[in-house]
Amino acid sequence: MASTSVRWSSRTGFALAALGSAVGLGNIWRFPYVMGEHGGGAFLVAYLVAVLVLGWPLLMAEIAIGRHTHADGVAAYARLAPARPWRWAGWLGVAACVMILAYYPVIAGWVGQYLLLALQGAMAVPEGVTQASRFQGLVQDGVLSVGSSLAVLLLSVLIVGAGVSAGIERSSKILMPLFAALLLGLAAYSLSLPGATHALEFVFRPEWEALARPVTWLAAFGQALFSIGLAMGILVVYGSYLDDAAPVPRLTLALVVGDTLVALLASLIIFPAVFAMGMAPAQGPGLAFVTLPEVFARMPGGALAGVVFFLLLLIAALTSVVSLLEVPVSLLVSQRAWSRRKAVGVTGIVTMLAVMPVALGEAVSSLQFAGGMTLLSLADMLSSQVVLPLSAIGIALVVGWCWRRESAGLAAGLNDVRGRQLWWLVLRWVVPLALAIVLVTGLLPR
Ligand code: PHE
Repeated sequence: MASTSVRWSSRTGFALAALGSAVGLGNIWRFPYVMGEHGGGAFLVAYLVAVLVLGWPLLMAEIAIGRHTHADGVAAYARLAPARPWRWAGWLGVAACVMILAYYPVIAGWVGQYLLLALQGAMAVPEGVTQASRFQGLVQDGVLSVGSSLAVLLLSVLIVGAGVSAGIERSSKILMPLFAALLLGLAAYSLSLPGATHALEFVFRPEWEALARPVTWLAAFGQALFSIGLAMGILVVYGSYLDDAAPVPRLTLALVVGDTLVALLASLIIFPAVFAMGMAPAQGPGLAFVTLPEVFARMPGGALAGVVFFLLLLIAALTSVVSLLEVPVSLLVSQRAWSRRKAVGVTGIVTMLAVMPVALGEAVSSLQFAGGMTLLSLADMLSSQVVLPLSAIGIALVVGWCWRRESAGLAAGLNDVRGRQLWWLVLRWVVPLALAIVLVTGLLPR
C-alpha cells in the first residue's frame, strides 16, 4: 500500500484531465441515441435528476476517498474500511475498467476509420451500397477492426507512458481546448440548418409519459454513471493526485455540468442535421455511423462537418481510453511497486490481447453467442448494467456506513455542516437504494 507522491501540476490540469476522462463516446455517440430512444426532453429531465442526485455526490465521494487515502482504487477502500468487505467495490471498479477497456478502443477504431473516410470526402456511399451495409462491412472486416483499435490503444499507451503530469495532463491541456472549439463551431453550424427549430423542440419539450416508464430512469442512471466515468476507480486515482486544499464541491460541480453540456451540445449538433435531412431521431447505436454519414453526404458543407465531427469523437474517445488505462497502471505501480514504464507496458500488452477477440468477435460467428450477442455487446451490457451499479453501491456504502461523517465530509471539501449532512445522507440512503432498484429492475426479464 505504498502511497503515491505523484501530483497534478495544477488544478486546471486536474480539471481538464478529469473532463477528458468524462467526455467520451458516451456523450457524443451514446447520449444522443439513448435520448432519441427515450422521449427526447423527458429523458433529459431524468438525466439531470440522475446527474445531480447520483452523479455529483458519488463523484465527490470518489475524489474524497482518493484524496484522503492518497492510494489506488483498491487500497483506498481497504484503508477506509479494513474490517469490512467493501474493498470489493474497488475490485469491481477495476473489473469494470478492464471490461470497458476491452471494447471501447474497438468503437474508437471505427471512429478512426470514419474519420479517414471523411478526410477522403467519402461520406456518400457508392451505388448499390447503403450506409448500413457499409458500416456492417467495416465492422466485420477483422483486420481493419483489429488494426484500428490497436492504433487508438497504442496512442493512449504512449500518452499514459509519458506520465501523469507530462502525459495525461499535458495532452488534456492541448486536446480539450481543441475539442471545445470544434464542438462549439459545429454546434453553431448545425443550429443554423433548417431542422434546428424542430430539433430544439425535440430536445427541450418533454414527452412526460416517458418519465412514467422505469426504463427511462434505468437508461438515465446507467448513462450518468458511464458518462461521468464513475465507479471505476478513475476518480479515486485522479483524486489521489490532487492537493489537499482543492475546492472539491466546486471542481466536481463544474465537471458534471461540463460533461452534461457536452452531451447536450452533441445532441444539438446531431438532431438539427438529422431533422434537416428528414431522417428519424431514434436510430439506436447506428446514429453516429449510419445516419450521420448520410446526413453529412447530403448537406451543404457536410464534407467539412463530417471531418470535424469524427475528429471530435476521436479526441473524446482517446482521452477516455487514457483515463481507463491509468487505473490498472496506478494499481500495479502502488501494489506491486513496479516502475511506471513496466506497468504501462504490461497493461498495454494485456489490453491489446483483450481487444483483439472483441474486435474480431463482430466478424467471426464462432465468437458470438445466442441471439447474435457479441463479445462487445456482452462487455458493454455486463459492465454498465451490472458491475458499475454494484461498484457504485459499494462506494456509497463505504462513505455512508464505514467512514466518520465529519472526516468524509471534510475530505470532500464540504466545510459547511449542513452540506456535509445532506451529502452523507444521500450516500447513506438515496444512492444505494436507487441503484439497487435500478439494478434489480434492469435484470428482470422484460
Ligand atoms: N466517460 C466516458 C464517456 O462518456 C467513458 C468512460 C467510461 C471513460 C469509463 C472512462 C471510464 O464515454
